[in-house]
Amino acid sequence: MKNPFHFRARKPSYDGYAVVTGAGSGIGRSFALELARRGSAVVCADLKLEGAKETVARIQEAGGTAHAVKCDVGKASQVEKLAAESEELLGHPVTLLINNAGVGMGGKFDELSLEDWKWCMDVNLWGVIHGCHHFVPGFKKRGGGAIINVASAASYTAAPEMSAYNVTKAGVRALSETLYSELKRDNIRVNVLCPTLVPTNIIKDGRLPARYSKLADHALMHYAMTTSDDVAKLTLNRLDRGELYTTPQVDAKLFWMLKRATPNLYANLLGFSYRFVKQ
Ligand SMILES: NC(=O)c1ccc[n+]([C@@H]2O[C@H](COP(=O)([O-])OP(=O)(O)OC[C@H]3O[C@@H](n4cnc5c(N)ncnc54)[C@H](O)[C@@H]3O)[C@@H](O)[C@H]2O)c1
Repeated sequence: MKNPFHFRARKPSYDGYAVVTGAGSGIGRSFALELARRGSAVVCADLKLEGAKETVARIQEAGGTAHAVKCDVGKASQVEKLAAESEELLGHPVTLLINNAGVGMGGKFDELSLEDWKWCMDVNLWGVIHGCHHFVPGFKKRGGGAIINVASAASYTAAPEMSAYNVTKAGVRALSETLYSELKRDNIRVNVLCPTLVPTNIIKDGRLPARYSKLADHALMHYAMTTSDDVAKLTLNRLDRGELYTTPQVDAKLFWMLKRATPNLYANLLGFSYRFVKQ
């Protein structure tokens, strides 16, 4: 059988010692596998250790180096521990952090409890803040590093019935944009990934109203324009080129342009089309 990692040693991406959060499924798993293919050693962190171990097993079977770590990114102390443990496991300072772990959340604003908001904010936004907070000092000390933050096209599309998710992803995008310029002089690269639909477990494992969760999952699994593997490859390539944004799909690019070119028209179009959504 052809070795799936035969592209090994296509450095940098960026640049050989990576930590990926939420690496036990979906986009995070694809990042971990692609990094290993490019010759990186990878720490696969996830709230669900079993998922992380499965990713590690796939990497090791193909001859790569990886370690599984249980970590809840919503807890600052666990991310602090992840930073120290990763350096030990890799036997080298971490050179790339991918803040990927995230959860799906939908529903009308008045249907969401404050606990729903807290859960979504803790993982999607605080998880990324914790990651940057605990890894950036190491990058600065070492004279460089790289961060990929996984936001979403939801960070700018502002679709109805996604308030909590949209807010967290807008925060991740704003943080990434700020850090891109602030950390440039420290030789730290930043990329923010803003995809539309990618077929993963995000809806199955998320909190969405029963009235449309099945439909949303069907759309995600059958109408997505790309795969998590392609998204991971593209994002790593863009990071290597020093670019800030990754908007992988055509619809992600179209929404981005429309929103920026005509923000009021965009908002009115959304409000108008939402009137026709069955309640
Ligand atoms: N799938 C999409 O359509 C899509 C689109 C835009 C952005 N995203 C973003 O991509 C990222 C990855 O999601 P995915 O689509 O691969 O979903 P997924 O559900 O397949 O994977 C998410 C992973 O994150 C882990 N996780 C959840 N909470 C965690 C926590 N507190 N600490 C550590 N790990 C945790 C899960 O166990 C899981 O392994 C998320 O940030 C998501 O918001 C996904």
